[in-house]
Amino acid sequence: MPAGEYNDLMSTPQRILVTGSAGRIGRAAVAELTARGHKVVGLDIHPTPGLPPDRSRVASLTGPGVLEAAAAGVSAIIHLAATPDDAQYPRGAAPDDGDNFLTDLVPNNIIGPYQIMETARRLRIPRVVLASTGQVIDGHLKDQNVPVTPDTPPRPRYLYACTKVFLEALGQVYAKEHGIEVLAVRLGWCPRAGQEDEFRRTEIGPDVYLSPGDAGRFFAATVEVPKLPPFAVVYATSRHVRTRQYDLTSSRELLGWEPREQWPEGSGW
Ligand SMILES: NC(=O)c1ccc[n+]([C@@H]2O[C@H](COP(=O)([O-])OP(=O)(O)OC[C@H]3O[C@@H](n4cnc5c(N)ncnc54)[C@H](O)[C@@H]3O)[C@@H](O)[C@H]2O)c1
Repeated sequence: MPAGEYNDLMSTPQRILVTGSAGRIGRAAVAELTARGHKVVGLDIHPTPGLPPDRSRVASLTGPGVLEAAAAGVSAIIHLAATPDDAQYPRGAAPDDGDNFLTDLVPNNIIGPYQIMETARRLRIPRVVLASTGQVIDGHLKDQNVPVTPDTPPRPRYLYACTKVFLEALGQVYAKEHGIEVLAVRLGWCPRAGQEDEFRRTEIGPDVYLSPGDAGRFFAATVEVPKLPPFAVVYATSRHVRTRQYDLTSSRELLGWEPREQWPEGSGW
């Protein structure tokens, strides 16, 4: 699709399930999809701002029957719910060396995506968009082996990033075996409340920044584009400031989406 096409797309309203809909990126996706006339069902352990109570499901997606009920009748799932980082990185020295792998990452980021793909398979949902992260190619960024492309092999930062490598592989397998269109999105950095200092300390932040507005438009494009390849990896960031870290060519070509903003636009800081 030609770059910029997304702006002009008049899309048929769809029913879309957004998991993690009360989170930083989830709220942006819900707001844009709703503004574009789609019926969004939100699923989160917290209520989703901007959705009526009957479409804001408050439950863990790993609970029995939760996903089947939330996903009934949808044409696509945007799966954002996750534990969004490691508890510590780098890990402290013993005895202060705990992690969140078994407690949070395995249930939310390993079992959760499996249940998403299984629900899509059982309910014959044709498209699933999976939130991966630039942390899966962190080693390349650290070595300045950039811009990274969808073919850049994983060099994960730590355990959270390992769960996202699994998520991408899972999506690829379900696309191949079950004919579901799966798009795995290596998202840039849309800082959450409390990450302001960390963001400002890093040099790379402005180059991998993803504004909520660009994120919302990105996810709207993922469900509105008529056709996707069976499986693809793409990147989503706002416009870089100094050095291009992520190659956005395939996001443009597949979705007709281009970022409009640049750090600090849209950050609210
Ligand atoms: N924000 C970023 O910079 C960034 C960067 C790369 C990837 N991501 C990924 O994007 C997605 C969204 O991230 P975010 O920054 O909005 O995080 P967030 O923590 O703000 O939102 C995640 C939401 O998922 C919900 N959630 C977690 N486990 C759940 C479960 N079992 N059932 C139902 N809801 C559950 C949480 O309540 C939360 O509202 C995540 O998959 C994250 O890994 C985020």
